[in-house]
Amino acid sequence: MSFDGGTDAPSSAIGSDDKRGGKRIYPGERGFLKRIHDSAWAWDIFQGPIYNRLIGPAAADYFFTLADRVEREAHGCAAPMRILDVGAGAGTMSLLLARALPSLAITGIDYSPGQVRAARRMKKRAGLDNCRFQLGNAMNIPFAAESFDLAISVNSIKHWPDPVRGLVEIGRVLRPRSRAFIAEVDRRASPAALREFADKYRAWFIWPPAMRWCLGNVVFGNSYTTGEVADFASRAGFSAVSIQEVPGPFFLVSATK
Ligand SMILES: C[S@@+](CC[C@H](N)C(=O)[O-])C[C@H]1O[C@@H](n2cnc3c(N)ncnc32)[C@H](O)[C@@H]1O
Repeated sequence: MSFDGGTDAPSSAIGSDDKRGGKRIYPGERGFLKRIHDSAWAWDIFQGPIYNRLIGPAAADYFFTLADRVEREAHGCAAPMRILDVGAGAGTMSLLLARALPSLAITGIDYSPGQVRAARRMKKRAGLDNCRFQLGNAMNIPFAAESFDLAISVNSIKHWPDPVRGLVEIGRVLRPRSRAFIAEVDRRASPAALREFADKYRAWFIWPPAMRWCLGNVVFGNSYTTGEVADFASRAGFSAVSIQEVPGPFFLVSATK
């Protein structure tokens, strides 16, 4: 495994070791809240609308950096490159890519019907016809082997009940030697980075201290570290696993089938 950027060293970690083997910065793993946070119905009813409305502006740099990485990858490929976006949500990344590179053929899957409807609405509004969205679970991706040339997944893997299985599924639907980009919020992001990020979320119905608590305890606290996701990718059979720096309290793992 090569690490060509980023670090898995605990930053300003405080607290005791957690059961994933790292120092804990945020509490996380509050069973009831985690179950809600990971459930399709919660994405349908309230998490989807809140995330879709607020995350774009708050994480724009991050999305553009990811899109740039995928675009660079796409330039070396004979068109049309078939891209799978796993846990596509309202399609932010898929639509960004579809708009930037009309030669791509993008398929976004999500296990929340509400998120799939939101993505289809956004696609219609954008007037794009090189992407499509459909229901699908990362645990059992509804496509034949070797159907795609590249896979991406943004801020979704922390919700999967078995991340290695999800990555095995991604590997199955990728053609040989193609690449997967897995982006996620970093459980070891420093409290200052998390605070700066949380403070970008502005809405009349969100009390900032509650948002910070929720991000720290439920979202970041239940996410992974760069090393953990790189390890999942290796265990799922990927090679050339590398960690890339991206702006904000996020990371990007790239891996080759
Ligand atoms: C934080 S949102 C990210 C959405 C989108 N990738 C983005 O960055 O805008 C996480 C998404 O993952 C989806 N998700 C969670 N678990 C999933 C699973 N097992 N299979 C498919 N989608 C899943 C949720 O429904 C939600 O839309």
